[in-house]
Amino acid sequence: MTRAYAQGFASQPNEINMDELPIIGQFPAWLNGSLIRNGPGQFEVGRTPIPHWFDGLAQLHRFTFADGRVGYGNRFIQSNAYFKDNQTGKINYRGFAVDPCRTMFQKAFATFFPAEPANNTVVNITRLEDEFIAMTEFPLTVRFDPQTLETLGILDYDDKLSAQTATAHPHYDFERRIGLNYMLRIGRKNEYQLYTLTSKKRTKIATIPVKAPSYIHSFGMTTRYLIIADYSFRLKSMLALAFGDKPFIQNFEWDDTQDSRFLVVDRHTGALVAEIPTDAFFAFHHINAYQADDDTLIVDISAYDDAQLIDQLYINALLHDDYPQVGQFRRYTLPLRGGRAMYAVLSDESIELPRINYTANNGRDYQFAYGASIQKGSQDFLNQIIKVDVKNRQTWIWRESGCYPSEPVFVPAPNAQSEDDGVLLVVVLDSQNTNSFLLILDAHTMTELGRVIVPQHIPFGFHGSFFEI
Ligand code: CO
Repeated sequence: MTRAYAQGFASQPNEINMDELPIIGQFPAWLNGSLIRNGPGQFEVGRTPIPHWFDGLAQLHRFTFADGRVGYGNRFIQSNAYFKDNQTGKINYRGFAVDPCRTMFQKAFATFFPAEPANNTVVNITRLEDEFIAMTEFPLTVRFDPQTLETLGILDYDDKLSAQTATAHPHYDFERRIGLNYMLRIGRKNEYQLYTLTSKKRTKIATIPVKAPSYIHSFGMTTRYLIIADYSFRLKSMLALAFGDKPFIQNFEWDDTQDSRFLVVDRHTGALVAEIPTDAFFAFHHINAYQADDDTLIVDISAYDDAQLIDQLYINALLHDDYPQVGQFRRYTLPLRGGRAMYAVLSDESIELPRINYTANNGRDYQFAYGASIQKGSQDFLNQIIKVDVKNRQTWIWRESGCYPSEPVFVPAPNAQSEDDGVLLVVVLDSQNTNSFLLILDAHTMTELGRVIVPQHIPFGFHGSFFEI
C-alpha cells in the first residue's frame, strides 16, 4: 500500500510564480517579508531514480508576505547536476549518497574526490550581506536572487582554504556580522577546520587534526566557544573514499566501541580548550548551546543512539521499509575541566529539524525550542510540530490528521515581549487534499492563526529562513 506521505517524495516539475494565494484565517499585520526554503524538487533523472532524500535536485520556494497578501514561487537551482543529469538521464556528479560510475582509468589518475561534486545545493540557504546563497555539504555555494529565485552562479571565494566537505548550517555572529562554519579537509592529514565567512572571504579560526573524521552536519556555538560533536560514525578509509566505488556517505562506519566526544574551541583564539568524551551517539542537528558557568557548557542536540537514520532516509526505505527514527531531545552537560559529558532527555516527544529564536537566543541561555516530530506510537513520517520549554520541561504539540509538517521557522514579533512572542511558519503536506499549505502558528500558544493554500504539493524539504525582504 502506498504510504499517505509518499507525495512528499514525489517530484514537483511545475515552477510557478503567483502574487496571491488563498488564505484561511489570518496572519499578523507585522508579518512582512519572505520565507525562503530549500529542498529536493526532483527525485529521478530520466528513468534513473535518485536514491537518497539528500540528493534530490534542489528547488527553492518563496512565500512573500506583503500588505495582507501572500505570494508564492518555486524554482529549481540551475546546478551542474540539474542540467547534465536531466540531459543524460543518469547521475554525473558526486553527491551525498550517489556517485557516478567511473572507469578504472579515471580512478587511477584521480586525486581526492575525483568525481566532480554536484553543486546541487539542496540543504539550506543563508544571507551574507547582500548575497543570498544556497548550500549543501560540499563547500560550493550557489548565489540566487531572493525575489525571482533565479540562480546567479557559484560564489567564488578569494582565499586559499580548501576542503572536501562543509556544513550547510553556518552560525551567524550578529555583532561582528560574520558567518562561522566548519569544513573537513581530507588528505595525508585529516583536519577539522573552523572559519569565519562573509560573502567575499573565508578566514580560518582553528585547525584540529583528526585521525578518523566523523560525518558532521552541524555544530554548536556559544558566545565564547564553537562546539563540534565528534560522533562515533567515522571515515573508514581515505583511500576507499578517493578510489573506491562507494558514494560519499557509505565510506563512514558506525563504531560504538569508540566514544563520541565534544571538541570545544575558543571562537576568538582558535584554541582547542577541551576534548570531552561521551557515550557513542550520532546527530544531524544541534539545537542550541550556552555556557552555564565557568566550568560547564550546555549543548542541546537532536540525538540518536546510532547512525541507522542515514540508511532509513533512502527514498525506497522511506516508502517501503521501517519508519525512520526521530531524534531524542538531549541536553549534554560538558565539564570543561575534565570528566565525561552526560545527558538528560528534555522531552518525551521526538524532535528533528529543530529551531529556536535564533536572533535573540542562539549561544545563550534560552527557554524554547521548536521542531518536527513523529507522534508517539504512530507508524508514520514527521506528523507533528512540537514546542519544548527546556526550563520547565513541558511540551506542546500541533498535529492534524493526514498532515506532514516540515521544519518550523520562528519569526519574532517586532518589539517582542518574550522569547516566544512571534509566529512559526511551517510548510505542511496535506495528504488528503494532495497539496501543501503554509501553516502560521502562534509560537506562544501553538495554535493556528491561519494557513496559505498552495495549488500544488511541495516535496519534503530541509531548511529555510525568513528575511525582511
Ligand atoms: Co540540516
